[in-house]
Amino acid sequence: MSGSLVGLERDALEELSKASSRDALQQARARYLGRKGEVAGLLKGLGALSPEERKGAGEAINSLKTRLEEAFDRALEELDEKDKKHKIESERIDVTLPGRYLHPGRLHPVTQVLHEIEEIFLSIGFDVAEGPEVELDYYNFEALNFPKDHPARDMQDTFFVSEEVMLRTHTSPVQIRVMEARRPPLRVIAPGTVYRRDSDITHSPMFHQIEGFMVDRNVTFAELKAVLTIFLEKLFGKTGVRFRPSFFPFVEPGAEVDIRCVMCCGAGCRVCKGTGWLEILGAGMIHPNVLRSVKYDPEEYSGFAFGMGIERIAMLKFGIDDLRLLFENDLRFLKQF
Ligand code: PHE
Repeated sequence: MSGSLVGLERDALEELSKASSRDALQQARARYLGRKGEVAGLLKGLGALSPEERKGAGEAINSLKTRLEEAFDRALEELDEKDKKHKIESERIDVTLPGRYLHPGRLHPVTQVLHEIEEIFLSIGFDVAEGPEVELDYYNFEALNFPKDHPARDMQDTFFVSEEVMLRTHTSPVQIRVMEARRPPLRVIAPGTVYRRDSDITHSPMFHQIEGFMVDRNVTFAELKAVLTIFLEKLFGKTGVRFRPSFFPFVEPGAEVDIRCVMCCGAGCRVCKGTGWLEILGAGMIHPNVLRSVKYDPEEYSGFAFGMGIERIAMLKFGIDDLRLLFENDLRFLKQF
């Protein structure tokens, strides 16, 4: 009897030491200490012994049982301890690693300048209109008083879809669309994308313009000068502004508007080609023929209009010397704004 107990204990401890998982340990435990296990079997066998033998054997079996239970408990604890250590090791966080930075999106410089220009005109009572980028000859040219043989209609500048349909070459057709749909008084700006067959460091086949116009009774060149001077001073600060006579078919008289060079303040530099002035926009009094084409009576109403390129203004404001940078979407460039 005592010999078989020693053997059992040795077997049990050996199995226990081999068990590397909780499952294996529980199984071994059940085999030795379970209700139908080896130790239970020994205890059952006690009934066959004489009362004298039974006492000693019972004590021996019970003390074996206690030792095995303790051994299993210890093994289980050790396993738990090992698991916990492993978990801590594997889930360790290196708090000294640099964080993963989320790059915030930001507005494109052209959009920023567009918003700034819109803000200025909204603050002086203009509202915003838009028109289609694929435009009819009628709106892009005809109603704007372009004679049939005007050079701007030449294939050189215009992307044609068909003889009558084209990508708009400027935002001025929005003047016609808005005037057709509404009656004076009108104070409107019309930003948008325009297209011309042109590509070099200062020209892109796709670029943005913002058109503006005001139509009412008794609108004169004085209003045009006032509105544009206020606008340019808000946008560029108090620089000089000058108006030069110029020609656009849809205005009479027409003007080009310059500001003092923002790079050299008028001293003369590469950007202003030594003139001290920068051309910023085209403008003029809306031509009577244009008013007639939208059935406004030129004797009753008059108006002014102006148009400017947004990329050019962005380049001057931010000191960008190559227009193409604005369209290449190089993050190193865009991140600076
Ligand atoms: N549409 C003209 C251009 O694209 C600009 C302009 C607009 C000039 C309104 C006068 C009046 O060059």
